[in-house]
Amino acid sequence: MNGELGGSIPIAASEVAQSWDTLYIFLFWVSIAFCVIVFGSMLWFAIQYRQRPGHKATYITHHTLLEVVWTVVPTILVVGIFVWGWVVYKDMVEAPADAYEVRVIGKRWDWTFQYEDGRTSVNELYVPVNTPIKLLITAQRADVLHSFFIPNFRVKKDAVPGRFSYVYFKPNIIGSHQVFCTEYCGTSHSAMLAKVYVVSQEDFDRWWAGEKIEIPPPVGIGDIQYASASGAVLSGEVQKPKMDLVQVGEQLTKTKGCVACHNATGEKLIGPTYKGLWGSEVELTDGTKVIADENYIKTSIEMPQKQIVKGYEGVVMPPYAGQFTAEELNAVIAYMKSVK
Ligand code: CUA
Repeated sequence: MNGELGGSIPIAASEVAQSWDTLYIFLFWVSIAFCVIVFGSMLWFAIQYRQRPGHKATYITHHTLLEVVWTVVPTILVVGIFVWGWVVYKDMVEAPADAYEVRVIGKRWDWTFQYEDGRTSVNELYVPVNTPIKLLITAQRADVLHSFFIPNFRVKKDAVPGRFSYVYFKPNIIGSHQVFCTEYCGTSHSAMLAKVYVVSQEDFDRWWAGEKIEIPPPVGIGDIQYASASGAVLSGEVQKPKMDLVQVGEQLTKTKGCVACHNATGEKLIGPTYKGLWGSEVELTDGTKVIADENYIKTSIEMPQKQIVKGYEGVVMPPYAGQFTAEELNAVIAYMKSVK
């Protein structure tokens, strides 16, 4: 099993990828074993018990032991596979709380990465090795469906306009790892490529400080020729911005006028406060309870009448759909997250 394109499974470059591979290879061999058992016995029965002169078939109604065996054995096997799959799936989707978060925005036909300090990079994601990474994925407003796939890490998630989703991985091999878009999204779908540069912590710190670092060599599926549809250039250089994401978000709440009705101090104005909102359970007018996560905040900004907080009946907030870019919305959410 090597990393050749068109070969079998690519290199396993994350913790989950390794446990995923073990499960996959187990399933592969179980399938082979059952193929041999089923087709082998079919063949053997067809020959052994075929119609021939002087040979009368025995009429068999049932065989208890055999029936118990062929029920119990596969049941144990499939329940075992379910439990195993569940464990691997949980490892795949449950990011530890201290995971390093990067925001991903799919657009026709580029991937934009947005970091804590406010910088963005196009089609290049820099992450330190052996660090849990959580990618918060969405697509540009009024764009189409994309899907973010890193074969070497065995992670894939749709990038849906108007919705946030996550992938989580802990990369453990330094190198350049290929990202594909795996949802047909138009003319340049096949050129919607990006790279994940997994670098040493020292290199990452240098890059973080604004230095240009050497791009790591491709590993596994990692060297698909780059051809950006938008003409974005891979440089390895990213400008360190003046404001971090939280500051950009805070400023947006002022420039877009949010602060006229909401504040971060806990005081009740026309609308609810941001203070302590993140991650809390919000009760709506219809009695349902929702967790204030990215999707909740996004909906509350863009379509506020959809989820009215209990106690704010009759308060009308104008919809802000289309007034924030995906990047701006990420900044506002980062700010709200910071208001404890
Ligand atoms: Cu984006 Cu295909």
